[in-house]
Amino acid sequence: MSAIKGKVIAITGASSGIGEAAARLLAQKGAHVVLGARRTDRLEALVSAIRAEGGSARYRALDVTKREDVEAFVNFAQSEFGKVDVVINNAGVMPLSPLEALKVNEWDQMIEVNIRGVLHGIAAGLPVMKKQGYGQFVNVSSIGGHAVYPTSAVYSATKFAVIAISEGLRQENDNIRVTVISPGVTESELADTISDPTTAEGMREFRRIAIGADAIARAIAFAVEQPADVDVSEIIVRPTASPF
Ligand SMILES: NC(=O)c1ccc[n+]([C@@H]2O[C@H](COP(=O)([O-])OP(=O)(O)OC[C@H]3O[C@@H](n4cnc5c(N)ncnc54)[C@H](OP(=O)(O)O)[C@@H]3O)[C@@H](O)[C@H]2O)c1
Repeated sequence: MSAIKGKVIAITGASSGIGEAAARLLAQKGAHVVLGARRTDRLEALVSAIRAEGGSARYRALDVTKREDVEAFVNFAQSEFGKVDVVINNAGVMPLSPLEALKVNEWDQMIEVNIRGVLHGIAAGLPVMKKQGYGQFVNVSSIGGHAVYPTSAVYSATKFAVIAISEGLRQENDNIRVTVISPGVTESELADTISDPTTAEGMREFRRIAIGADAIARAIAFAVEQPADVDVSEIIVRPTASPF
């Protein structure tokens, strides 16, 4: 029997891509998954699909840039299932562009979603886990959190931040597990947020070797299913053909 069975797992950004794949896999392994994102029609359909396969799932509308939304989301998971084992801070955006394009609003959006969103997840989950005496955060960074490329400056900064915040969180807590998952290029809707035409064209080429989102879901499941005294602190999962 999987150690995931019976765990209550709240996932932000569960309406597509990696979050959706993680929700499906973790539910198949017996977790109670609680799904959050802004597109509730997608979440509703996903919850129905999971339940049709015999899984346990709930959803709640969530904008991770709003602290009160994220707090209500985690509290919803707790009230529905009586505890919160794992918070997966997965929601993210990636409107890449060269700095000289001065897409300042997109810089702000990345900071709001990718950094502040993760902090809101921690602010919501940490008090619950402290009280329980156990818990786990899975924070989704990126290969962009390990290296910087032209057009990735701000995105990479947000993903470096996710790693720094996660490492601090890990060191400060001896009974709460903290995992950083850093995907390489993976099939999802992420590149749709790129508004700079030249960058978008380059990305289409770059993403040809993308691996399925289920590959990242399996890495998340591996980290979650370890025993309470084993912290899988960081995993990088990239396409075999990827130079980055
Ligand atoms: N795919 C890759 O190649 C790749 C590589 C490295 C890292 N990552 C990271 O993986 C994570 C998941 O991305 P993905 O690739 O699965 O892309 P995706 O298909 O675009 O999924 C992004 C998810 O984030 C949610 N989201 C965006 N803004 C939000 C907000 N303000 N509040 C709540 N949810 C929000 C979206 O839902 P709504 O729009 O419905 O709110 C969606 O569910 C991101 O953190 C991304 O940076 C992906």
